[in-house]
Amino acid sequence: MQQTGGPEVLRLVEAARPEPGDGEVLVRVRAAAINPIDWKYRRGLMPKQLPAVLGSDISGVVESSRSERFATGDEVFGLAASGGYAEFAVSSAALLAPKPAGLAHEQAAALPVAGMTAWQALFDVGELRSGQSVLIAGAAGGVGHLAVQFARVAGVQAIGTASARNREFVLGLGAARFIDYAGEELAGVHGEVDVAFDTVGGATTETLLDTLRPGGMIVTIAGGAPEQAAAERGVRAQLLVMSPDAEELGRIGGLVAAGEVEVEIAQVMALADVAEAHALSESGHTRGKIVLSLD
Ligand SMILES: NC(=O)c1ccc[n+]([C@@H]2O[C@H](COP(=O)([O-])OP(=O)(O)OC[C@H]3O[C@@H](n4cnc5c(N)ncnc54)[C@H](OP(=O)(O)O)[C@@H]3O)[C@@H](O)[C@H]2O)c1
Repeated sequence: MQQTGGPEVLRLVEAARPEPGDGEVLVRVRAAAINPIDWKYRRGLMPKQLPAVLGSDISGVVESSRSERFATGDEVFGLAASGGYAEFAVSSAALLAPKPAGLAHEQAAALPVAGMTAWQALFDVGELRSGQSVLIAGAAGGVGHLAVQFARVAGVQAIGTASARNREFVLGLGAARFIDYAGEELAGVHGEVDVAFDTVGGATTETLLDTLRPGGMIVTIAGGAPEQAAAERGVRAQLLVMSPDAEELGRIGGLVAAGEVEVEIAQVMALADVAEAHALSESGHTRGKIVLSLD
């Protein structure tokens, strides 16, 4: 990307392979996933030095290594430092985990940002334990659909919100209850849940506060935390910015490889179709993840 703008600013160009430094590896990318932050950078909503290769989530094969953690030929997944929408990406070994053999590259690439964000929201910030409850706003999205399943695996009861077409999908992930945000009132969930996980932002955020039990917590990832409104209601509010953790990512990959959690892939597209992939993601109604395949 040479300039910010619409999806058309994404161009496929020939570029030199990035060079790994000490502690880094060069990965031959086999699949890369789209995250909303990618098109936020593209649109200039968040600062990024240009020209840039966008994309964080990758899965691929180590081409060369300057780290003792990985050797040439290892299959890895994680975050790309040099940009993931590329045939080759450089990454710190600390941002990568070994890819479980049972996981396809498309599945593995879908996990890093969405998986670690969902995990950290529920368990690190939300400190949810078995027997507790969580309301997940945006339960059909990249982050939300993993959060519903992580909750189920941990014995946490999840209530998921999405539009009506995603009702069966969200319940099928293991949500105990589904709320159609367009047709139903959240008022039916009043003073009830331990944690509200807000992956939607905007006007949705404050509507979630009344679902919390006294002392409960809203964890937001898509906008500022409503600290004052939360304090007025006797609940807490916290913004989560995901911190990469390769060990945690490895555990998430293990859950998917074991079949305990499923990654929903809305569409696999070619790298050359990245502009179309961005337009789809930007529409705000992706079910699960959009993945670019470089095979
Ligand atoms: N802070 C961080 O570290 C961090 C990390 C990851 C992501 N994020 C941010 O978190 C947000 C979500 O990311 P994502 O990857 O999950 O996005 P996504 O996959 O694009 O989310 C799409 C989903 O949102 C649902 N949705 C849209 N409006 C909704 C509403 N009003 N109520 C409930 N669901 C609604 C859609 O369901 P329907 O089609 O049924 O409407 C769709 O399934 C983005 O803004 C992203 O940038 C932040």
